[in-house]
Amino acid sequence: MLFPDYRPRRLRQNEGFRRMIRETRLSVDDLILPLFAVEGKGVKNPIPSMPGQFQLSTDHLVKTAGEAFELGIPAVMLFGIPDKKDPLATRAYAKDGIVQKATAELKKKVPDLIVITDVCLCQYTDHGHCGIVEGRVIDNDATLDLLARTALSHAKAGADMVAPSDMMDGRVSEIRNLLDEHNFSNTPIMSYAAKYCSAYYGPFREAADSAPKFGDRRTYQMDPANSLEAIREVTMDVEEGADIIMVKPALPYLDIIYRVREEIDLPVAAYHVSGEYAMIKAAEKMGWVDGKKVMMETLLAIKRAGADLILTYFAIEAAKEIIK
Ligand code: PBG
Ligand code: ZN
Repeated sequence: MLFPDYRPRRLRQNEGFRRMIRETRLSVDDLILPLFAVEGKGVKNPIPSMPGQFQLSTDHLVKTAGEAFELGIPAVMLFGIPDKKDPLATRAYAKDGIVQKATAELKKKVPDLIVITDVCLCQYTDHGHCGIVEGRVIDNDATLDLLARTALSHAKAGADMVAPSDMMDGRVSEIRNLLDEHNFSNTPIMSYAAKYCSAYYGPFREAADSAPKFGDRRTYQMDPANSLEAIREVTMDVEEGADIIMVKPALPYLDIIYRVREEIDLPVAAYHVSGEYAMIKAAEKMGWVDGKKVMMETLLAIKRAGADLILTYFAIEAAKEIIK
């Protein structure tokens, strides 16, 4: 394969050849749209650091989710922003909690759209941590039951799949067991299996009002320096019964996506997070990059690295590019 016998440019000379040898294609089937649900009616609060994204009351949520579904996007991921917070995250597992109400409404109005619910406590605790706090320590085992109750309440509200994002040890089996006990053995779990302690979550914490009031999440989320540990984390979730495993964030962790895809035979999802979205939007606004092209190249890169599914705030914009 040496020049001049081999000339790679031969198969790049026109779009026909380029299409024929293209190895990776982004499909609307790959996309999952994250949405922020708030209480009230007629609410559509713009999220300043995430242009084009909003906190939505259920009526608006149904519209946006409906638009996504019409474009061919198979699923949404719901985050809730409750009216009240307390140390035990009571509103996370309340029957009439925001995610529970929004899920029921979505399943009524757009029944074939897959509704995935984020299972965590940080939006619901007054201290903003993903688990129960004892002194200044996040108590792993005391948190497990509340996470499982949250997942069960989502399933009862009609959620098609639950997605624990807390990074407590052992939560996947705790959730699996409680779901099975209550006849939800058909509800899959997508676990945030390798979730790093990342500064790229900044805009999300503003959007979801979930920043920790003291300390940080380094005692439960993963150290960005580690990749062998990602394999241990993911393997653990697989053994506990996860159906889909997730790597998060996406673009700065393409090596982790690649590695997990090589070693694990379950579907792999990657979460293209809020900070990744915000940076592209900001550079586009400055006129420094072509935002649409950078968006498509980024999502393609995540897919090429091995992600089968991509959670992205760009889902609607990307779907429009794909089907046009
Ligand atoms: C909370 C949660 C976070 C994200 C999803 N679920 C933030 C965090 O862990 O602090 C981040 C999503 C994003 O940045 O888009 N459990
Ligand atoms: Zn959390």
